[in-house]
Amino acid sequence: MNKNKKKIWITAYDVPSTHASLEAKVDGILVGDSLGMTVYGLDSTQEVTVEMMSRHFEAVYKTYKKNNSNIPLVLDFPFGTTENILVAIETAEIFKNIGAQCFKIEGGKEMIPIFLELISRGFEIVGHLGLTPQTSELKLHATTEQEQNELLEIIKIFDDIGIKHIVLECVPAIFAQRAQEIFSGDIIGIGAGKNVNAQILVFDDVIGRTHADFQPKFLRRFGKTFEQNVNAIKKYKNAVKSNDEKNRFPNIDESY
Ligand code: KIV
Repeated sequence: MNKNKKKIWITAYDVPSTHASLEAKVDGILVGDSLGMTVYGLDSTQEVTVEMMSRHFEAVYKTYKKNNSNIPLVLDFPFGTTENILVAIETAEIFKNIGAQCFKIEGGKEMIPIFLELISRGFEIVGHLGLTPQTSELKLHATTEQEQNELLEIIKIFDDIGIKHIVLECVPAIFAQRAQEIFSGDIIGIGAGKNVNAQILVFDDVIGRTHADFQPKFLRRFGKTFEQNVNAIKKYKNAVKSNDEKNRFPNIDESY
């Protein structure tokens, strides 16, 4: 695989993260339900609602439009929205009204009828297999031959029904490579090793804004935003308390 062709996806939830991601020329943006934990401090994605996803998508979409972007922009279907076909259609219509047309939906074979229905209505689907945080245990998946064969079968079906992207989370790298070999679109890996066409990480993790307590094996922080934030706030605090007219905040130039 040509390394230069590798694609970079980012999970973004708001205006600043979208703006920075577009400026850095990422290949795709996901408005992911991980915002439940990252932004709201919830215990799991099961508590994330359609309303929460909508508000965040609107902020991202506004920035996306303003920048005239045409990279893939994907919105996560939150927990409960694939309970049955009717709920899935209703959710897709709500999301369509705010500009979304491509949805990431967790799940395997049981999702096929819903995927076919949404595809027939002109929506695009991004699959999500392996560790699916809405319902599965937070552990390495595809560790047995049986599980691997089942997943490969599902990936082939996804390919056949026209799915072009699959997020594959927390699986052995050697398995992810096999998955990419049989899939004509892009496997977007997270904790899936290097031999897939694309990688995805959450913006807040990439820039190091999330606290270092959160340290899954697959995660590398490329920035030190948390430390920079703490330092900036400390400097602000010291400037307010300063007796030195030059360093004090606000100084004469910052006052009316
Ligand atoms: O919700 C999310 O951000 C995701 C990515 C981590 C793949 O599902």
